Amino acid sequence: MTDPLTPLAGKQILLGVTGGIAVYKSVELLRLLKKAGAGVDVVMTEAARQFVGKTTFEVLSENPVITDLWADSHASVAHIDVASRCDAAVIAPATANCIAKMAHGIADDALTTTFLAVTSPVMLCPSMNTDMYQNIRVQRNLDILEKDGVYILDPDDGVLACKTVGAGRLPEPWFIFDRICRMLSSKDFTGKSVLVSAGPTLEPIDPVRYVSNHSSGKMGYAIARAAEMRGAAVTLVTGPVSLDPPAGVETVHVQTCQDMADAMLSKMDGADIIIKVAAVADFRPKKQESVKIKKTSGQDEMILTLVQNPDILQRMGQLKRPDQFLVGFAAETNDLAANARKKIQKKNLDMIAANLVGAADSGFKADTNKVTLFFKDGSQKEIGLMDKQAVAHILLDAILVQVS
Ligand code: C5P
Repeated sequence: MTDPLTPLAGKQILLGVTGGIAVYKSVELLRLLKKAGAGVDVVMTEAARQFVGKTTFEVLSENPVITDLWADSHASVAHIDVASRCDAAVIAPATANCIAKMAHGIADDALTTTFLAVTSPVMLCPSMNTDMYQNIRVQRNLDILEKDGVYILDPDDGVLACKTVGAGRLPEPWFIFDRICRMLSSKDFTGKSVLVSAGPTLEPIDPVRYVSNHSSGKMGYAIARAAEMRGAAVTLVTGPVSLDPPAGVETVHVQTCQDMADAMLSKMDGADIIIKVAAVADFRPKKQESVKIKKTSGQDEMILTLVQNPDILQRMGQLKRPDQFLVGFAAETNDLAANARKKIQKKNLDMIAANLVGAADSGFKADTNKVTLFFKDGSQKEIGLMDKQAVAHILLDAILVQVS
């Protein structure tokens, strides 16, 4: 059973490297895989070695690199051994030539021969010039592979080595790593649709000023990412934060509480599980000035009138169908349990995740959080201080017990 927090620990990955300028990124990918506790076997084409020598991969993988079917001892069949022992296999970068051979079962070098013997999940990361990538023959080969069950990671758009601007860049190593983690994660949320809100809301005073809070979005993003890894269809409605949207998640960017309410309510119908992590501003300026407010001479105070924002969670609690599971978050400075229980009743929630704010290692901005889960039936579960990604998985585990 794969631990959702460390899906790569103890796993064996086969890394195929073909000849493109992006080979330097596979070196970093190899480091990330090793750091996550995976064993890695590398197989390289002759062209790949024109870009980075095999010694680099050998040292970092701590394993011999396969480059030639005939070079090594024949006491064991190395390429069959690495193919059969891997839990997942990835080719990054994958050239047009390699894609064509893979699509048609051609095995004329060490890499393609090895990959023909792989029975575990395979991911290909195409990387090439935009015109080559868009060529009908390359696209046809990618379609064949996709239909065969190979996972194709779309290339990024950007400036390519040939100075073309367009699709063809190998995605960043952390992104490929993230997708390999997903391949190996258990998919216990398959068939479930999860709607998450995250971050602060931002309530304008005038065109340059606003009322907001210190929410970083880290907790909500961690939950969205964890649910996607576990096979859920995830929508994330997020206030302004400086985080990259999680891979594979439909992300809707909003600013104000009203925007967030509109987005959440329009997505609510299709969601099985709704997790409202966002730190929504309870009040907004009564009037939003259309021009910047100027200070006048002699003015030593300014009164800003605020009006209450809609409570999105409470509204969702009223609209909730019996088959939907609604989770709120509560940041409290005191009386954690009493306040959390009151909110479960008042907002008609199935569960609330409450944390005391104020400590440096918990709540807003921190990478860790200390949360207690309170349930509708009066029970509670304390989650010790841990990484927000770990909190996310424990929270999802608790939800799964309730919904299944
Ligand atoms: O009552 P309190 O604001 O502490 O409740 C926090 C929970 O309510 C969070 O889940 C937050 O996303 C949600 N909330 C909301 N709309 C508001 C205020 C809070 O959805 N206007």
